[in-house]
Amino acid sequence: MKGIVLAGGTGSRLHPLTIAVSKQLLPVYDKPMIYYPLSTLMLAGVREFLVITTAADEPGFRRLLGSGEQWGLSIQYAVQAEPNGIAEAFLIGEQFIGTDQTALILGDNLFHGGGLPEMLQKAVTNTSGATVFAQEVSDPERYGVVSFDGSGQAIKVEEKPVSPESNWAVTGLYFFDQQVVEIAKTISPSARGELEIASVVDAYLQAGDLRVGQFGRGFTWLDTGTFDSMVSASEFVRVIEQRQDTKIGCIEEVAWRMGWISDAQLAELAAPLVKSGYGRYLQRLLTARSANGPS
Ligand code: TTP
Repeated sequence: MKGIVLAGGTGSRLHPLTIAVSKQLLPVYDKPMIYYPLSTLMLAGVREFLVITTAADEPGFRRLLGSGEQWGLSIQYAVQAEPNGIAEAFLIGEQFIGTDQTALILGDNLFHGGGLPEMLQKAVTNTSGATVFAQEVSDPERYGVVSFDGSGQAIKVEEKPVSPESNWAVTGLYFFDQQVVEIAKTISPSARGELEIASVVDAYLQAGDLRVGQFGRGFTWLDTGTFDSMVSASEFVRVIEQRQDTKIGCIEEVAWRMGWISDAQLAELAAPLVKSGYGRYLQRLLTARSANGPS
């Protein structure tokens, strides 16, 4: 399973913040936004990534994430010249994807909740078709919207409908089988000129090959594309992290828990981050494990 983190776009709803800095490099409380989606795909077991950015922002992402080797990952980079739509990720990523399945996550989406790793790992084991996740929201017209029949079967996916048929928004996390590149090649730009991810999802739905996982009310999905949603996401992360003495979206921790880096490697990553407290958190993980035995 290959992973694509889509971190291009114009971020125009965050201007002037995003004139000189990519949205996905901005902070969400104590770490750059892209840490959250990247760590989510890592929880699904993905280790090979393509980060798609704008040409201007690519150096910043390389400086932050490098080759990924320090976390037991491989991270490659590609440029999306213009924000031509989310589904363009599969055309840009064609070579990277090769004959593998693909997980795509939007670089400004944050997922948090019990059972997430299990849901993701289940999606990965489905080797044919597509899996997307939906959650009920108060403003479905801003998203792709999926409607269901009486038996809970998905029957329709529409991008930003004026009159949504349900409150179930499709989140920015998608798992596709090997056909996705060919399907992406068949879709045409929408009225707003974008290659819509909803069109790709709809193609799987029409083929009877779409699974829709529902995130319940105990689950948090945030996107961070506006001033208020960025502040809300930061506040959410701060409250949970301080209350539970844990971190959300901590790449180093996930790599270590997945067994991709050793205790010694985690200690090495922690050292230069000690002053901010982030490194001390990583050091505490090691102390807790040696006190409690392997978890
Ligand atoms: P959006 O939030 O829809 O777009 P944006 O980030 O450009 O922001 P704005 O609406 O404020 O101008 O994009 C959702 C995510 O997908 C975000 O992480 C950017 C990414 N994206 C791309 O990388 N390329 C694209 O062509 C599009 C449409 C989005």
